[in-house]
Amino acid sequence: MKIDLRSDTVTKPTKEMMDAMYLAPVGDDVFEEDPTVMQLEESAAKLFGKEAGIYCPSGTMTNQIAIRIHTQIGSEVICDKLSHIYNYEGGGIAVNSLSSVKLMEGDGGRFTADDVIKSIQPDDIHAPITSMVAIENTSNKGGGCTWDLNEIEKMAIVCVKNDLPFHLDGARIFNALVAKNENAIDHGKYFDTISICLSKGLGAPIGSVLLGTKKQIHQARRIRKVLGGGVRQVGILAAAGLYALENNVNRLADDHKRANQIAEVLTTCSFVKEVLPVETNILVFDLNDDVKQTDFIQQLKEKDILVVGFGPQRIRFVTHLDFDDAQMESLIGVLKGF
Ligand SMILES: Cc1ncc(COP(=O)(O)O)c(C=O)c1O
Repeated sequence: MKIDLRSDTVTKPTKEMMDAMYLAPVGDDVFEEDPTVMQLEESAAKLFGKEAGIYCPSGTMTNQIAIRIHTQIGSEVICDKLSHIYNYEGGGIAVNSLSSVKLMEGDGGRFTADDVIKSIQPDDIHAPITSMVAIENTSNKGGGCTWDLNEIEKMAIVCVKNDLPFHLDGARIFNALVAKNENAIDHGKYFDTISICLSKGLGAPIGSVLLGTKKQIHQARRIRKVLGGGVRQVGILAAAGLYALENNVNRLADDHKRANQIAEVLTTCSFVKEVLPVETNILVFDLNDDVKQTDFIQQLKEKDILVVGFGPQRIRFVTHLDFDDAQMESLIGVLKGF
């Protein structure tokens, strides 16, 4: 039995999702004539209470477009040191927006409204121009932890007061909403722009949507074109995203439950030093000092179980749509036998 816990991006489209793709009405999306893309953009925007949305191939592109919209040359983006926009988007803030970062020393990727206040640069020609704040919910490198809505509200107030656009990297926002039993509108109202991903826990093969005002999304269409992201009869793919939004959100609770069950077993395993708290579908743990990380990953691989290292001695498991109870039982058997 093959088990792939490297990421929630490894899922394959189901027959039902493929049927939706096959049947999708399409048109040329650069002319804004693809009805399925338009339906997806409208549904996603409505869900979060935003005016408009733009479908893009990846979460990297939606984040980078948002950053480009909110910055100017020489800007500074306030974000956490663990954030995806800083660590895993190829230095895109510098490359695409000619801007730099002010890194927060948060707790699992989460910083506070006070941290933001302390980080805003003075109006001094020597300093970069503080131009936006970006947070990530759930935090990937933070082990899938969620943000407290009260802290988000406080941060939004600071952003409004200081005229700073507030961006959400919501690659896994649905995991946060399901875990906390919160709704999208209550989160959406605090942010200027939101990136949601359909290709992570929701199980679509591709796609993210950037949400914002009509004006921002018009600007985003220009930037997406420059980045080479203006594509044609892409409703075939958007249909998978729509299917995912409509069918695969509530079931994320199953992924969270399985991640928790595995975590419980890991706490009893002698090769484990520490298991980080599990809130959603990402499970991070540290191996004991006498266990070589590469050997551990290799031994699992030999048993057809794929996982990734996530820093020295650190391992990440991500549960998802294609990981079921039978696979979990098999994995638990292997872990117990180590
Ligand atoms: C938190 C977060 N943001 C953004 C992205 C980027 O998404 P993509 O791989 O679609 O570019 C990822 C990818 O894993 C992510 O984990």
